[in-house]
Amino acid sequence: MQFNRHRRLRSSHSMRNLVKNLYLEATDFVLPIFIEEGTGVKTEIESMPGQYRFSLDMLQDELKEIWESGIRSLMLFGIPAEKDPVGSGGYAENGIIQEGIRFIKRIYPEMLVITDVCMCEYTSHGHCGILEGDTVNNDETLEYLAKIAVSHAEAGADMVAPSDMMDGRVWRIRRALDEAGYINLPIMSYSVKYSSAFYGPFREAADSAPSFGDRKTYQMDFRSSKEAILEAHDDLKEGADIIMVKPALAYLDVIKTLDDRFDVPIAAYNVSGEYAMIKAGAKMGWIDEKKIVTEKMYALKRAGASIIITYHAKELAQWIASGE
Ligand code: PBG
Ligand code: ZN
Repeated sequence: MQFNRHRRLRSSHSMRNLVKNLYLEATDFVLPIFIEEGTGVKTEIESMPGQYRFSLDMLQDELKEIWESGIRSLMLFGIPAEKDPVGSGGYAENGIIQEGIRFIKRIYPEMLVITDVCMCEYTSHGHCGILEGDTVNNDETLEYLAKIAVSHAEAGADMVAPSDMMDGRVWRIRRALDEAGYINLPIMSYSVKYSSAFYGPFREAADSAPSFGDRKTYQMDFRSSKEAILEAHDDLKEGADIIMVKPALAYLDVIKTLDDRFDVPIAAYNVSGEYAMIKAGAKMGWIDEKKIVTEKMYALKRAGASIIITYHAKELAQWIASGE
């Protein structure tokens, strides 16, 4: 024999369907949604076509569409009416997220509601924690993150997802949840979160760009590859149930490394900048959106992500349902 005939198993659609080993289902996806305090708000986010900021009174139709698409998990981001240096809107009993959780769970009790636990949407300075001079004080911030997480649990969240990148936050949040009686509430940690230009559109959407400096003293440096393992390892030791890699597409190597090393579900966050690029390319007519998005989702699956957080979620679910 001179060579192998790999084309044998690619010979027809049915043959390819038989030998494939990866699948996409609506329940793989988590759809992030932006909810804003106030009434009558449905504002499209300019750099994220198809994504909106909703006030709760305007959310119902969208929720119905999401539910009917087959999506069963949401990630909530809040835009408060007012911000202050300690981000008190983040843990207010009737804050936008807390109200949002109750609203969604009242209409769709089976919808999994995951909350982003961070401070940057609520602080007047836009950083992800409590400032001491020009830097974020790690340990003081932990106390606030714990309060935020417990307030989400009290409102009925199904899972909390800390994204601040403070050291020890999973440990502190786990302790706070346990003490408040939420021993069965899981933590999905943004374990490996890089300081990334891919978050640009999100910061416009959530009005959460830092007013000075950047997030490089707490988010990770993409020029280092080893600390990903350390961060994930520590989060698991501290009690994380699911670990996440963010952004997704430019970090497939990291997803793969974590999947090889750790026996827990791996989530990938296909972030705002990745979404914006696809929407822009599609609008120009330069790419086939559906095919590119689908191909990308399989890349994340191949790398080892079993949970995909993506703004494309609703459309993906609709495409899957229509059998295309
Ligand atoms: C909050 C947070 C951010 C994102 C998720 N949670 C922004 C940031 O860290 O600046 C980014 C999501 C996206 O770009 O889609 N810390
Ligand atoms: Zn933040």
